[in-house]
Amino acid sequence: MTRPTIIAGNWKQNPSRGEGESLYRGVCEGLMARAVPPSLSVILLPPFPFLASLPPHPRVELGAQDVAVEPWGAYTGEVGAPTLREFGASHALVGHSERRTHLAESDAQIARKAKAALAAGLVPILCIGETEEERKSGVTDEVLDRQVVRVLEELPENGPLVIAYEPVWAIGAGVNATPAMAAAAHAFIRERLATLWSKERAQATPILYGGSVTAENAPELMREPEIGGVLVGGASLRPESFLAIVDAALAAAGGGKKQANSRSRAGGRS
Ligand code: PGA
Repeated sequence: MTRPTIIAGNWKQNPSRGEGESLYRGVCEGLMARAVPPSLSVILLPPFPFLASLPPHPRVELGAQDVAVEPWGAYTGEVGAPTLREFGASHALVGHSERRTHLAESDAQIARKAKAALAAGLVPILCIGETEEERKSGVTDEVLDRQVVRVLEELPENGPLVIAYEPVWAIGAGVNATPAMAAAAHAFIRERLATLWSKERAQATPILYGGSVTAENAPELMREPEIGGVLVGGASLRPESFLAIVDAALAAAGGGKKQANSRSRAGGRS
C-alpha cells in the first residue's frame, strides 16, 4: 500500500499579500532545510490570487479552496477548474464545512465540483464531517456515509481523490478529535470506499484529519496508522507552527506510527 502522507495548509480568507508571501517564503525555506521524502506532500491552499503570485517551489503544491461547478461561463464570481489549473493549482478543496454552512452548499453541488476538478486535472480534496449535534445523536457514520456516497456516485471509475475528515465541531474550536475518534472515523470511511470502489483503491486514497490541528497535537494524531495526513487551518498561518506539524509527519514516517493492529477499531466512535 503506497499512498503519500499529505500536510495541507488551508489559509482560508487570510492573509494580506505581504503576509502571505512572507509565510510562503518561510514555509519553503523550512522545507528546504529538512529532509522531506517524496512520499510527503505539502499542499498550500491560499486565496485565489496567490495561485498566480506565489512562485512555484519544488517542495510545495498549491491548491484552491473551492472550484466552480462549471468550467466556463456566465457565473460571476466563480473560478473554474481549468483556470485554476492554468494558474498553478494541482488540488482543489470541495465541500469545506464553512462553505456548506455559510453558503449552503449541498452534497449534489459538491459532487459536481469534485467532478469538475477531476475533469480539469485537479485532485479534489473532499471535506466531510459531522456537526456536534450529529455526533451527540449518534449519527456520525450515517452523515459521513451520505457525504461520501453522494460524491462517489458522480466520479469516474478512476481518478485520484483525497478525503479530509473534519468534524465540524473541531474546526477553529481549539478542540480536536482524539486520535482514536479520528482513526475510527477514518477506518469507517475507508471501509465504505472499499465497498463502493475496491479495496485497492480505498487503500490508495489518502484520508486526512482536520480540525484544530496544532504543533502540540499533531505528533499524537500522526502516529495513528489510519491518519494519512492533516488539513490545517489556523496553525498553517505561521511558518513555525506549520513546519512543526511537518516535523510530526516526518517523525511518524520515520517509525513513529503505532502498529495498525494495536488500534481498537471501535476506539472513540460515539
Ligand atoms: P482549523 O481549520 O485547523 O483552524 O481548525 C481546519 C480547516 O477548516 O480546514
